Amino acid sequence: MNRIQLFPLTARVENNTLTIADHNLSALASEYGTPLYLYDRATMDTAAENYKFALKKNYPMSASITYAGKAFLNLAAAQWTQLHDLFVDCTGEGEIAMAVAGGVPRKHILVHGVNKSNLDLSAAIQYAGTIVVDNLTELLRIAEQYPATKYKLPDLWLRLLPGVAVQTHHAHTQTGQHDSKFGMTSAEMMEAAQFCKINHLPLNGIHFHQGSNFRDASPIKEAIDLALDLAKEIGLPDEWHFSPGGGWGVAYHEDELPQPDSNEYVRAIAENIIHGSTARGLTLPHLHLEPGRSLVARAGVALYKVGAIKQRGNKVWLLTDGGMTDNPRHAMYGAKYSCLAVSNPDGKEIKQVSIAGPYCESGDVVIEDLLMPNIEIGDLLAIPAAGAYHLSMSSNYNGSRKPAVLLLEKGQARLIQRRETIEDLMRRDVSL
Ligand code: LLP
Repeated sequence: MNRIQLFPLTARVENNTLTIADHNLSALASEYGTPLYLYDRATMDTAAENYKFALKKNYPMSASITYAGKAFLNLAAAQWTQLHDLFVDCTGEGEIAMAVAGGVPRKHILVHGVNKSNLDLSAAIQYAGTIVVDNLTELLRIAEQYPATKYKLPDLWLRLLPGVAVQTHHAHTQTGQHDSKFGMTSAEMMEAAQFCKINHLPLNGIHFHQGSNFRDASPIKEAIDLALDLAKEIGLPDEWHFSPGGGWGVAYHEDELPQPDSNEYVRAIAENIIHGSTARGLTLPHLHLEPGRSLVARAGVALYKVGAIKQRGNKVWLLTDGGMTDNPRHAMYGAKYSCLAVSNPDGKEIKQVSIAGPYCESGDVVIEDLLMPNIEIGDLLAIPAAGAYHLSMSSNYNGSRKPAVLLLEKGQARLIQRRETIEDLMRRDVSL
């Protein structure tokens, strides 16, 4: 595929310059500084609407998209979810608070987490419509905690560990395999369901999530069958909910096939659920899909400035002002990224370069061995597919400040998160 196809839908090369939603990226970099994160509104909107359209087309019952907030969440992102009527998957009280501040209503807040604290649980009981129970001790704690609150207990779904993995880019992004820390075995699910029955807890759903950034939806069938067997055995109410998680993949590098169509993923899930439920005499569940990356990754672009260039043996290092603190994905998973120069992206004198950040860590590398035209000090580099799991996993290593974030629409660039200040870095500190 072509490198530009990794970028947001509105990305163009015009007059030898990369633009997004018609914006001059050099002007944005001068105004807001670098590293800078850009989100293209049109790409996010299209991804959300494509999912909704695919659900309408493939699934005859009610169905919803739940945005996995862990991919990228702040006030504006939370507000954006409600423009598309999305549910929001929140991990813990921090993400719940962001969702609430962004106006996400109770019925759209769904809470995940593998070891939810009592504070996570009380936030969930106060603000969420659904808690996805990860384990038996959590269930006991919910049952103990909620009578003392004045709130109605949210719906409870049980998280199944299906014991079936999907093919992902790294072992650390698999969650469905037998030895995973997530969810409950079938036996534990039965025990949890029994506990809910005895204690009159509002159990009405099943969830699993097999992993993140996969393109082959076939392992999902086995997990769906297992979940449907359990739904039957547990005896869920006729109006029940089923979430086979998220994880649909995106393209990070031109060596990969283009971002797969969400319709393909939705169809595979819908067909298996319709067929499996009918075969077992189950009513069709309300279907919930939980994409994060495939909604926002392609919308995001990281903009870095080259500050130094070094030739070391066969390697040419372009040293940039962004790196592992805003994008730890190469360091963590060996993720393979691509890049375009903002000016003269199709320039000559192509050579192989590697791109590393300014931090005191040899692993502070974003891209290894990529063919690029001649790059000079001061040039801007645009890294595509930067919208998911960059800023949400960012750190302040070396006292780095988290970058500013802009939401781009034609004719409008809105600052949706300012760059951290030095004061922000010391805000929690207490002097001796
Ligand atoms: N649902 C649950 C319960 C999840 O745990 C996740 C992701 C998702 C949905 C959304 O998955 P997505 O559609 O975004 O792939 N930091 C890693 C990814 C970790 C994903 C964790 N859970 C990465 O950068 O690749």
